[in-house]
Amino acid sequence: MASVLVTGANRGIGLELVRQLKSRGDEVIAVCRQQSQALDRIGVEVIDGVDVSDDRVGGILSEVLGRRSLDIVINNAGVLTQESLEDLDWERIRRQFEVNALGPIRVTSALLPNLVTGSKVAIVTSRMGSIEDNTSGSRYGYRMSKAAVNMAGRSLAHDLKARGIAVVILHPGYVRTEMTDGQGLIDPPESATGLIARIDELTMTTTGTFRHSNGEALPW
Ligand SMILES: NC(=O)c1ccc[n+]([C@@H]2O[C@H](COP(=O)([O-])OP(=O)(O)OC[C@H]3O[C@@H](n4cnc5c(N)ncnc54)[C@H](OP(=O)(O)O)[C@@H]3O)[C@@H](O)[C@H]2O)c1
Repeated sequence: MASVLVTGANRGIGLELVRQLKSRGDEVIAVCRQQSQALDRIGVEVIDGVDVSDDRVGGILSEVLGRRSLDIVINNAGVLTQESLEDLDWERIRRQFEVNALGPIRVTSALLPNLVTGSKVAIVTSRMGSIEDNTSGSRYGYRMSKAAVNMAGRSLAHDLKARGIAVVILHPGYVRTEMTDGQGLIDPPESATGLIARIDELTMTTTGTFRHSNGEALPW
């Protein structure tokens, strides 16, 4: 039984990750801004009131967790807004950097005392953060913030190698959630199953890689 912390756990892909991890017997710590009824029904430990864009996130998490060790941290919380060249809303762009790019680093750095040799860190990014894969432009804040977190994930992989902690950067697929207004190619259960499989197969040999939840290696 692994102990797994998931951010953005109250809905969407994060909620489904919690559901599947709990049902296979893992001890799940669901982190969110606000508890949802769906999360409550799963019956796992919940740490709410955690906004990953808030610099106080470390204090909140360490107060609850103390020195409890974590086998897996899944940085899933994220936000998407649409900006085109004709509509560059700087506040929205900054917000996406705070949540999507800095959030996973805030959370992971706060949890460093809880990670042990063999622990794994996953960052749920997007292939929209891939420079090579960008064939359609636009969405400045989302694309830039996800490209930034991809780089952070690679740095984390290097920095945590000596401690035997592996890091993977994962695209969940195009998933029907609130983020996509219900549009997509797959539903959260398929995405979550793939994400969990990718985390399970992660080793120190594959640390720092960027993968689709279906296993495909993605270009940076
Ligand atoms: N759906 C897709 O097709 C798709 C594709 C590529 C990548 N992704 C990525 O997959 C992850 C999950 O997305 P999703 O589709 O499940 O989206 P979602 O249904 O919109 O859920 C987003 C989750 O992130 C949380 N969140 C947002 N801002 C936060 C903040 N400041 N602090 C803490 N939590 C925050 C939300 O909590 P609240 O309820 O409090 O807002 C919610 O739990 C995101 O990182 C997203 O970028 C999704």
